[in-house]
Amino acid sequence: MFEALQPLPPDPILGLSAAFRADTNSKKVDLGVGVYKDAAGNTPVMRAVKKAEELLLSGQATKAYVGPTGFGEYNEIIASMLLGEELKQSLGGRRVTVQTPGGCGGLRMAAEFIRKANPDATVWVSDPTWANHVPLLGSAGLGIETYPYYDYEKHSVRFEEMLATLKQVPKGDLVLLHGCCHNPSGADLSQEQWQAVKDVALTQGFTVFIDLAYQGLGDGLVEDVYGVRLMAEALPELIVVSSCSKNFGLYRERTGALTLTCTSEQAATAATTLLAAAARANYSMPPDHGASIVQTVMSTPELHADWESELAEMRDRINGLRSLLVNRLAEAGVAGDFSFIEKEKGMFSFLGVNKEQIQALINDYSIYIVNSSRINVASINEENIDYLTTSIAAVLK
Ligand code: LMR
Repeated sequence: MFEALQPLPPDPILGLSAAFRADTNSKKVDLGVGVYKDAAGNTPVMRAVKKAEELLLSGQATKAYVGPTGFGEYNEIIASMLLGEELKQSLGGRRVTVQTPGGCGGLRMAAEFIRKANPDATVWVSDPTWANHVPLLGSAGLGIETYPYYDYEKHSVRFEEMLATLKQVPKGDLVLLHGCCHNPSGADLSQEQWQAVKDVALTQGFTVFIDLAYQGLGDGLVEDVYGVRLMAEALPELIVVSSCSKNFGLYRERTGALTLTCTSEQAATAATTLLAAAARANYSMPPDHGASIVQTVMSTPELHADWESELAEMRDRINGLRSLLVNRLAEAGVAGDFSFIEKEKGMFSFLGVNKEQIQALINDYSIYIVNSSRINVASINEENIDYLTTSIAAVLK
Protein backbone atom coordinates (compact mmCIF):
# COMPACT_ATOMS: atom_id res chain seq x y z
CA MET A 1 0.00 0.00 0.00
CA PHE A 2 2.85 2.44 0.69
CA GLU A 3 5.10 1.41 -2.23
CA ALA A 4 3.63 3.82 -4.76
CA LEU A 5 4.11 6.87 -2.57
CA GLN A 6 6.33 9.59 -4.01
CA PRO A 7 8.29 11.95 -1.74
CA LEU A 8 7.07 15.53 -1.54
CA PRO A 9 9.39 18.49 -2.14
CA PRO A 10 10.77 20.10 1.04
CA ASP A 11 8.64 22.72 2.81
CA PRO A 12 9.64 26.14 1.42
CA ILE A 13 10.52 27.46 4.90
CA LEU A 14 11.25 24.46 7.13
CA GLY A 15 13.14 22.70 4.30
CA LEU A 16 15.50 25.65 4.22
CA SER A 17 16.21 25.25 7.96
CA ALA A 18 17.15 21.61 7.40
CA ALA A 19 19.48 22.57 4.52
CA PHE A 20 21.05 25.29 6.70
CA ARG A 21 21.67 22.85 9.56
CA ALA A 22 23.38 20.43 7.16
CA ASP A 23 25.64 23.16 5.68
CA THR A 24 29.21 22.98 7.05
CA ASN A 25 30.26 26.49 5.91
CA SER A 26 31.25 28.35 9.10
CA LYS A 27 30.08 31.63 7.56
CA LYS A 28 26.56 30.37 6.81
CA VAL A 29 23.67 32.75 7.54
CA ASP A 30 20.06 31.62 8.02
CA LEU A 31 17.68 34.33 6.86
CA GLY A 32 14.94 31.74 6.36
CA VAL A 33 12.63 30.62 9.13
CA GLY A 34 11.01 33.32 11.26
CA VAL A 35 12.65 32.90 14.63
CA TYR A 36 14.15 35.77 16.60
CA LYS A 37 17.89 35.69 17.18
CA ASP A 38 19.92 37.79 19.60
CA ALA A 39 23.21 39.57 18.89
CA ALA A 40 25.10 36.28 19.42
CA GLY A 41 22.90 34.47 16.90
CA ASN A 42 20.97 32.46 19.50
CA THR A 43 17.21 32.12 19.93
CA PRO A 44 17.10 32.55 23.69
CA VAL A 45 14.51 31.37 26.19
CA MET A 46 13.11 34.69 27.40
CA ARG A 47 14.11 35.60 30.96
CA ALA A 48 10.55 35.68 32.31
CA VAL A 49 9.76 32.38 30.57
CA LYS A 50 12.75 30.70 32.21
CA LYS A 51 11.65 31.93 35.65
CA ALA A 52 8.05 30.91 35.03
CA GLU A 53 9.26 27.42 34.11
CA GLU A 54 11.15 27.19 37.40
CA LEU A 55 8.00 28.20 39.27
CA LEU A 56 5.96 25.66 37.34
CA LEU A 57 8.46 22.89 37.94
CA SER A 58 8.38 23.37 41.68
CA GLY A 59 4.71 24.31 42.04
CA GLN A 60 2.72 22.35 39.48
CA ALA A 61 0.50 19.90 41.34
CA THR A 62 -0.91 17.78 38.51
CA LYS A 63 -0.55 16.73 34.91
CA ALA A 64 -4.20 15.72 34.60
CA TYR A 65 -6.01 16.51 31.33
CA VAL A 66 -6.94 20.14 30.66
CA GLY A 67 -9.85 19.63 28.24
CA PRO A 68 -10.32 20.36 24.52
CA THR A 69 -10.59 24.16 24.84
CA GLY A 70 -7.41 24.34 26.94
CA PHE A 71 -6.49 26.30 30.05
CA GLY A 72 -9.26 28.79 30.89
CA GLU A 73 -7.04 31.39 32.58
CA TYR A 74 -4.66 31.38 29.63
CA ASN A 75 -7.59 31.90 27.25
CA GLU A 76 -8.71 34.96 29.21
CA ILE A 77 -5.18 36.37 29.28
CA ILE A 78 -4.93 36.00 25.50
CA ALA A 79 -8.31 37.68 25.03
CA SER A 80 -7.11 40.60 27.20
CA MET A 81 -3.91 40.92 25.15
CA LEU A 82 -5.90 41.01 21.92
CA LEU A 83 -8.81 43.18 22.96
CA GLY A 84 -7.85 45.11 26.10
CA GLU A 85 -10.01 44.87 29.23
CA GLU A 86 -12.66 47.37 28.22
CA LEU A 87 -13.52 45.89 24.84
CA LYS A 88 -13.26 42.39 26.25
CA GLN A 89 -15.81 43.29 28.92
CA SER A 90 -18.13 44.96 26.46
CA LEU A 91 -18.10 41.92 24.15
CA GLY A 92 -19.02 39.77 27.13
CA GLY A 93 -20.38 36.34 26.18
CA ARG A 94 -20.29 37.13 22.45
CA ARG A 95 -16.55 36.42 22.58
CA VAL A 96 -14.96 33.03 23.01
CA THR A 97 -11.25 32.12 23.13
CA VAL A 98 -9.88 28.58 23.01
CA GLN A 99 -6.29 27.43 23.37
CA THR A 100 -4.77 25.79 20.29
CA PRO A 101 -1.51 23.97 19.50
CA GLY A 102 0.31 27.06 18.19
CA GLY A 103 -0.90 29.46 15.53
CA CYS A 104 -0.97 26.66 12.95
CA GLY A 105 -3.27 24.60 15.17
CA GLY A 106 -5.45 27.70 15.57
CA LEU A 107 -5.61 28.20 11.81
CA ARG A 108 -6.55 24.57 11.31
CA MET A 109 -9.27 24.82 13.98
CA ALA A 110 -10.53 28.01 12.33
CA ALA A 111 -10.62 26.26 8.95
CA GLU A 112 -12.61 23.32 10.33
CA PHE A 113 -14.97 25.70 12.10
CA ILE A 114 -15.50 27.72 8.90
CA ARG A 115 -16.24 24.51 6.97
CA LYS A 116 -18.94 23.63 9.50
CA ALA A 117 -20.42 27.14 9.40
CA ASN A 118 -20.32 27.42 5.59
CA PRO A 119 -18.99 24.44 3.58
CA ASP A 120 -18.86 26.63 0.45
CA ALA A 121 -16.76 29.38 2.02
CA THR A 122 -13.77 30.78 0.18
CA VAL A 123 -10.94 32.40 2.13
CA TRP A 124 -9.36 35.40 0.40
CA VAL A 125 -5.67 35.67 1.24
CA SER A 126 -3.22 38.44 0.45
CA ASP A 127 -0.96 38.12 -2.58
CA PRO A 128 1.59 37.25 -1.32
CA THR A 129 0.87 35.58 1.98
CA TRP A 130 2.69 33.28 4.42
CA ALA A 131 3.80 30.18 2.51
CA ASN A 132 1.82 27.86 4.81
CA HIS A 133 -1.55 29.67 4.66
CA VAL A 134 -2.72 28.11 1.41
CA PRO A 135 -1.61 24.51 2.14
CA LEU A 136 -2.94 24.70 5.69
CA LEU A 137 -6.35 26.23 4.94
CA GLY A 138 -6.68 24.43 1.60
CA SER A 139 -6.00 21.01 3.13
CA ALA A 140 -8.95 21.58 5.45
CA GLY A 141 -11.09 21.83 2.30
CA LEU A 142 -11.58 25.58 2.03
CA GLY A 143 -11.57 27.36 -1.32
CA ILE A 144 -8.78 29.92 -1.63
CA GLU A 145 -8.67 33.14 -3.65
CA THR A 146 -6.22 36.02 -3.47
CA TYR A 147 -6.51 39.79 -3.23
CA PRO A 148 -3.71 42.10 -4.43
CA TYR A 149 -1.47 43.18 -1.57
CA TYR A 150 2.21 43.95 -2.09
CA ASP A 151 3.66 46.11 -4.83
CA TYR A 152 7.16 44.73 -5.43
CA GLU A 153 8.18 47.82 -7.43
CA LYS A 154 6.95 50.48 -5.04
CA HIS A 155 7.46 48.36 -1.89
CA SER A 156 4.09 49.30 -0.49
CA VAL A 157 0.57 47.95 -0.12
CA ARG A 158 -1.47 47.98 -3.36
CA PHE A 159 -4.31 49.35 -1.35
CA GLU A 160 -6.61 50.64 -4.10
CA GLU A 161 -6.48 47.28 -5.90
CA MET A 162 -6.89 45.40 -2.63
CA LEU A 163 -9.99 47.40 -1.78
CA ALA A 164 -11.43 47.00 -5.30
CA THR A 165 -11.13 43.21 -4.93
CA LEU A 166 -12.57 43.18 -1.42
CA LYS A 167 -15.59 45.06 -2.78
CA GLN A 168 -16.35 41.92 -4.81
CA VAL A 169 -16.08 39.47 -1.88
CA PRO A 170 -19.55 38.18 -0.95
CA LYS A 171 -21.13 37.45 2.42
CA GLY A 172 -20.24 33.91 3.44
CA ASP A 173 -16.60 34.28 2.34
CA LEU A 174 -13.72 35.28 4.58
CA VAL A 175 -10.90 37.78 4.17
CA LEU A 176 -7.68 36.77 5.90
CA LEU A 177 -5.66 39.77 7.12
CA HIS A 178 -2.32 39.79 8.90
CA GLY A 179 -2.85 41.59 12.23
CA CYS A 180 0.63 43.14 12.12
CA CYS A 181 4.11 42.43 10.72
CA HIS A 182 2.80 41.09 7.41
CA ASN A 183 4.49 37.80 6.56
CA PRO A 184 6.32 37.78 4.11
CA SER A 185 6.42 41.47 3.12
CA GLY A 186 6.64 43.44 6.39
CA ALA A 187 4.24 45.98 4.81
CA ASP A 188 1.31 46.63 7.14
CA LEU A 189 -1.97 48.45 6.68
CA SER A 190 -2.12 51.98 8.09
CA GLN A 191 -4.87 52.84 10.56
CA GLU A 192 -6.81 54.60 7.77
CA GLN A 193 -6.50 51.49 5.61
CA TRP A 194 -7.79 49.26 8.44
CA GLN A 195 -10.76 51.62 8.73
CA ALA A 196 -11.46 51.38 5.02
CA VAL A 197 -11.31 47.55 5.10
CA LYS A 198 -13.66 47.55 8.07
CA ASP A 199 -16.14 49.71 6.13
CA VAL A 200 -16.03 47.34 3.14
CA ALA A 201 -16.50 44.34 5.46
CA LEU A 202 -19.60 46.00 6.92
CA THR A 203 -21.02 46.80 3.49
CA GLN A 204 -20.19 43.45 1.90
CA GLY A 205 -20.91 41.28 4.93
CA PHE A 206 -17.87 39.02 4.52
CA THR A 207 -16.18 37.71 7.66
CA VAL A 208 -12.82 39.12 8.68
CA PHE A 209 -10.27 36.51 9.76
CA ILE A 210 -7.07 37.85 11.32
CA ASP A 211 -3.82 35.94 11.72
CA LEU A 212 -1.81 37.58 14.51
CA ALA A 213 1.55 35.86 14.93
CA TYR A 214 3.75 38.84 15.86
CA GLN A 215 1.93 40.96 18.46
CA GLY A 216 4.54 43.17 20.13
CA LEU A 217 7.20 42.82 17.45
CA GLY A 218 5.96 45.61 15.15
CA ASP A 219 5.21 48.89 16.92
CA GLY A 220 4.14 47.62 20.36
CA LEU A 221 1.74 45.29 22.16
CA VAL A 222 -1.20 47.72 21.87
CA GLU A 223 -0.26 49.36 18.57
CA ASP A 224 -0.04 45.96 16.86
CA VAL A 225 -3.65 45.07 17.64
CA TYR A 226 -5.17 48.27 16.27
CA GLY A 227 -6.84 46.31 13.47
CA VAL A 228 -7.99 43.47 15.74
CA ARG A 229 -9.66 45.89 18.16
CA LEU A 230 -11.18 47.97 15.39
CA MET A 231 -12.76 44.93 13.78
CA ALA A 232 -13.87 43.38 17.09
CA GLU A 233 -15.62 46.61 18.00
CA ALA A 234 -17.30 47.24 14.67
CA LEU A 235 -18.13 43.87 13.12
CA PRO A 236 -20.79 41.39 14.17
CA GLU A 237 -18.41 38.44 13.72
CA LEU A 238 -14.65 38.04 13.69
CA ILE A 239 -12.06 35.26 13.80
CA VAL A 240 -8.60 35.92 15.28
CA VAL A 241 -5.85 33.32 15.45
CA SER A 242 -2.94 34.33 17.66
CA SER A 243 0.38 32.79 18.56
CA CYS A 244 2.83 32.99 21.47
CA SER A 245 5.64 31.46 19.40
CA LYS A 246 7.35 34.75 18.65
CA ASN A 247 6.37 37.20 21.38
CA PHE A 248 7.01 34.70 24.20
CA GLY A 249 9.64 32.75 22.25
CA LEU A 250 7.61 29.58 22.84
CA TYR A 251 8.03 28.21 19.31
CA ARG A 252 8.32 24.52 20.11
CA GLU A 253 5.77 24.59 22.93
CA ARG A 254 2.97 25.14 20.37
CA THR A 255 1.06 27.84 22.23
CA GLY A 256 -1.70 29.62 20.35
CA ALA A 257 -5.34 30.57 20.50
CA LEU A 258 -8.46 31.00 18.43
CA THR A 259 -10.77 33.86 19.36
CA LEU A 260 -14.23 34.35 17.88
CA THR A 261 -16.69 37.14 18.26
CA CYS A 262 -20.22 36.11 17.40
CA THR A 263 -23.50 37.95 16.89
CA SER A 264 -24.95 36.59 20.16
CA GLU A 265 -24.03 34.70 23.31
CA GLN A 266 -26.03 31.72 22.03
CA ALA A 267 -23.98 31.66 18.82
CA ALA A 268 -20.76 31.87 20.85
CA THR A 269 -21.88 28.98 23.06
CA ALA A 270 -22.70 26.87 20.01
CA ALA A 271 -19.38 27.82 18.39
CA THR A 272 -17.50 26.72 21.51
CA THR A 273 -19.06 23.25 21.31
CA LEU A 274 -18.01 22.98 17.65
CA LEU A 275 -14.45 24.06 18.48
CA ALA A 276 -14.24 21.61 21.38
CA ALA A 277 -15.50 18.80 19.14
CA ALA A 278 -13.00 19.72 16.41
CA ALA A 279 -10.15 19.71 18.95
CA ARG A 280 -11.32 16.37 20.36
CA ALA A 281 -11.44 14.83 16.89
CA ASN A 282 -7.97 16.12 15.98
CA TYR A 283 -5.71 16.12 19.02
CA SER A 284 -8.12 15.85 21.95
CA MET A 285 -6.63 18.80 23.79
CA PRO A 286 -3.77 21.28 23.40
CA PRO A 287 -0.42 20.86 25.20
CA ASP A 288 -0.34 22.69 28.53
CA HIS A 289 3.25 23.73 29.18
CA GLY A 290 3.40 26.86 27.01
CA ALA A 291 -0.01 28.07 28.15
CA SER A 292 0.94 27.58 31.79
CA ILE A 293 4.12 29.57 31.19
CA VAL A 294 2.14 32.44 29.64
CA GLN A 295 -0.36 32.36 32.51
CA THR A 296 2.48 32.40 35.09
CA VAL A 297 4.33 35.25 33.37
CA MET A 298 1.24 37.38 32.93
CA SER A 299 -0.08 36.87 36.45
CA THR A 300 3.26 37.50 38.23
CA PRO A 301 3.88 41.29 38.17
CA GLU A 302 7.73 41.14 38.08
CA LEU A 303 7.71 38.52 35.33
CA HIS A 304 5.07 40.38 33.35
CA ALA A 305 7.12 43.61 33.51
CA ASP A 306 10.34 41.80 32.55
CA TRP A 307 8.62 40.03 29.64
CA GLU A 308 7.35 43.34 28.29
CA SER A 309 10.78 44.92 28.57
CA GLU A 310 12.56 42.00 26.90
CA LEU A 311 9.95 42.05 24.12
CA ALA A 312 10.62 45.77 23.67
CA GLU A 313 14.38 45.03 23.49
CA MET A 314 13.70 42.47 20.75
CA ARG A 315 11.48 44.86 18.81
CA ASP A 316 14.03 47.68 19.09
CA ARG A 317 16.81 45.36 18.03
CA ILE A 318 14.89 44.29 14.90
CA ASN A 319 14.17 47.91 14.00
CA GLY A 320 17.84 48.79 14.53
CA LEU A 321 18.87 45.89 12.30
CA ARG A 322 16.60 47.18 9.55
CA SER A 323 18.50 50.49 9.54
CA LEU A 324 21.86 48.73 9.83
CA LEU A 325 21.09 46.55 6.81
CA VAL A 326 20.03 49.49 4.66
CA ASN A 327 23.23 51.40 5.54
CA ARG A 328 25.57 48.46 5.09
CA LEU A 329 24.04 47.50 1.73
CA ALA A 330 24.79 51.03 0.53
CA GLU A 331 28.35 50.88 1.95
CA ALA A 332 28.93 47.54 0.23
CA GLY A 333 28.03 49.22 -3.05
CA VAL A 334 24.77 47.39 -3.68
CA ALA A 335 22.89 49.47 -6.24
CA GLY A 336 19.27 50.34 -5.56
CA ASP A 337 17.13 51.93 -2.90
CA PHE A 338 16.56 49.59 0.04
CA SER A 339 15.12 52.24 2.35
CA PHE A 340 11.75 50.43 2.30
CA ILE A 341 13.33 47.82 4.62
CA GLU A 342 13.52 50.48 7.33
CA LYS A 343 9.84 51.30 6.99
CA GLU A 344 8.56 47.74 7.11
CA LYS A 345 7.64 45.95 10.32
CA GLY A 346 8.41 42.73 12.15
CA MET A 347 10.87 40.05 11.16
CA PHE A 348 10.44 40.02 7.40
CA SER A 349 11.02 42.02 4.24
CA PHE A 350 11.62 41.06 0.64
CA LEU A 351 15.19 41.60 -0.45
CA GLY A 352 13.87 41.91 -4.00
CA VAL A 353 16.44 39.62 -5.66
CA ASN A 354 15.50 37.09 -8.33
CA LYS A 355 15.41 33.29 -8.14
CA GLU A 356 18.86 32.81 -9.72
CA GLN A 357 20.38 35.31 -7.31
CA ILE A 358 18.72 33.52 -4.36
CA GLN A 359 20.15 30.20 -5.58
CA ALA A 360 23.59 31.81 -5.92
CA LEU A 361 23.36 33.20 -2.37
CA ILE A 362 22.43 29.76 -1.05
CA ASN A 363 24.78 27.63 -3.17
CA ASP A 364 27.84 29.88 -3.36
CA TYR A 365 27.64 31.81 -0.08
CA SER A 366 25.53 29.63 2.28
CA ILE A 367 23.13 32.52 2.79
CA TYR A 368 19.69 30.96 3.16
CA ILE A 369 16.74 32.98 1.87
CA VAL A 370 13.15 31.82 1.19
CA ASN A 371 12.53 31.55 -2.57
CA SER A 372 10.23 34.57 -2.54
CA SER A 373 13.33 36.60 -1.47
CA ARG A 374 11.87 36.99 2.03
CA ILE A 375 14.59 37.58 4.61
CA ASN A 376 14.35 37.29 8.38
CA VAL A 377 15.92 40.56 9.49
CA ALA A 378 16.18 39.26 13.07
CA SER A 379 18.95 36.85 11.99
CA ILE A 380 21.35 39.66 11.14
CA ASN A 381 24.07 40.63 13.62
CA GLU A 382 27.38 42.50 13.77
CA GLU A 383 29.23 39.24 13.11
CA ASN A 384 27.48 38.35 9.86
CA ILE A 385 26.47 41.74 8.40
CA ASP A 386 29.69 42.34 6.43
CA TYR A 387 29.72 38.84 4.97
CA LEU A 388 26.03 39.18 4.15
CA THR A 389 26.18 42.56 2.44
CA THR A 390 29.41 41.87 0.51
CA SER A 391 27.95 38.54 -0.68
CA ILE A 392 24.76 40.26 -1.82
CA ALA A 393 26.88 42.89 -3.58
CA ALA A 394 28.85 40.15 -5.35
CA VAL A 395 25.72 38.30 -6.48
CA LEU A 396 23.90 41.42 -7.66
CA LYS A 397 26.87 42.73 -9.66
C1 LMR B 1 7.90 31.67 9.28
O1 LMR B 1 7.09 32.22 8.52
O2 LMR B 1 9.08 31.50 8.99
C2 LMR B 1 7.42 31.18 10.62
O3 LMR B 1 6.09 31.52 10.80
C3 LMR B 1 7.70 29.76 10.85
C4 LMR B 1 6.85 28.84 10.02
O4 LMR B 1 6.24 27.96 10.60
O5 LMR B 1 6.81 28.98 8.80
